[in-house]
Amino acid sequence: MRTLWTLDVPFLEGAANPLPLTVIVGAQWGDEGKGKIVDLIAEEADIVARCQGGPNAGHTVVIGKETFVLHLVPTGALRPGKLCVLGSGVVIDPLALFAEVDGLKTHGVEVENRLRVDPRAHIILPYHRALERAEEGRAAGGRLGTTLRGIGPAYASKAARTGVRVHDLLDRERLRTLLELNLETVGAQIGAAAAAAEELGAGAMTDVFTALGSRLKPLVTDVSGLINTALRGGRRVLVEGAQGTLLDLDHGTYPFVTSSSTIAGGALTGLGFGPRQVDQVIGVAKAYTTRVGHGPFPTELEPAAAADLREAGAEYGATTGRPRRCGWLDLVALRRAARLSGFDALAVTKLDVLDTLEAIPVCVAYEPDPRGDWWPEVELEAARPVYRKLRGWRASTAGARSIGDLPPAAREYLRFIAAETGVPVALASVGSGREETVRIDDPSLAAASSAVSN
Ligand code: IMP
Repeated sequence: MRTLWTLDVPFLEGAANPLPLTVIVGAQWGDEGKGKIVDLIAEEADIVARCQGGPNAGHTVVIGKETFVLHLVPTGALRPGKLCVLGSGVVIDPLALFAEVDGLKTHGVEVENRLRVDPRAHIILPYHRALERAEEGRAAGGRLGTTLRGIGPAYASKAARTGVRVHDLLDRERLRTLLELNLETVGAQIGAAAAAAEELGAGAMTDVFTALGSRLKPLVTDVSGLINTALRGGRRVLVEGAQGTLLDLDHGTYPFVTSSSTIAGGALTGLGFGPRQVDQVIGVAKAYTTRVGHGPFPTELEPAAAADLREAGAEYGATTGRPRRCGWLDLVALRRAARLSGFDALAVTKLDVLDTLEAIPVCVAYEPDPRGDWWPEVELEAARPVYRKLRGWRASTAGARSIGDLPPAAREYLRFIAAETGVPVALASVGSGREETVRIDDPSLAAASSAVSN
């Protein structure tokens, strides 16, 4: 019997089964519904690993009547017995991490004994949040519209080689020296008074973070070694990407991006394995597009229409509660995402949100490029989308479990995405529950995609 691990798609059957190393990445601006997809596939995994980002993520999983929003703990936590790891590419706020671990425990999810953290992962310290508040406060409404979790400044410390890493928390004297040096610099950057008013001094911070270090100590593991050994032993590893392709530090809509590598390549550097180890890359894309924070968004809807889509899709940030900007599916951006990460398959989420629409515009190109593979790196704000109007299905898809249950126009919508991106659509989500999922084994969807990719 085929398992969900292969996504039940015959056109992936040529690959080894089970596929030992799968990477899941967001194909848009984050919030694609990766949490649900990771949770589904995690059923078949032994290890679920985060490779980048930090508590800026908000991965939502609905299990029965309970809704879990995970920020730092890998989504595998919700599947009993799965090992959950945070690689060296993640930035860790230990206070946020343990608050989440303790919160999960109150809901009957015990994860601390199956959590592992790489000693090289960098720590988010209170001064990183203070620096970010100062930086974002320079413009009304925020300069970039970040999540204010200290992510950017923590990665900046890492690149400046002044960062504090997990293993530094295990040595009190070393930690104190590092903090004293860093606090001096932070004081010079944002003013000693501002730094002191908002944050702990070096002594108190050393106490707090040494205590957190003691709690982290039993979890500290060489994650690269762990994953490579696990793969050699036939274990299955699932990498849970956070944020999305268009927020990638190198390839996203810079400077309106996050500070890590959100494409599949980030899995390699953030966890420590080679490109040949990867068996499958799955891109998760919403059936339309949303973004939070500032920056260009070519297919964004004007406020009234955006509000309709926002209400239909409950589009509010899982981490900050901010209303998400909403727009139509952008196939130019999706094609680019497929190329940047080499998607083997797509999971299309929130298809049901489009159930009531009579026609659904989809962006196939930007003017003046009729072929639709032009990505205007600098002038994206000025990009004028060319839309193709697809037929809506005006019927509920919530009960669909197989491709045959979907209305013909919904099937056509998925087929169009496969054809335009050259990537088979292997899964469609029609609701937040685990069971509200359509496993796609329709060879015509594979044919649609290969027609383009070959
Ligand atoms: P930062 O990651 O907090 O530095 O925020 C940088 C940009 O990425 C902002 O536009 C945030 O709204 C966005 N962002 C960060 N994390 C997520 C996420 O998990 N989902 C969606 N957007 C995110």
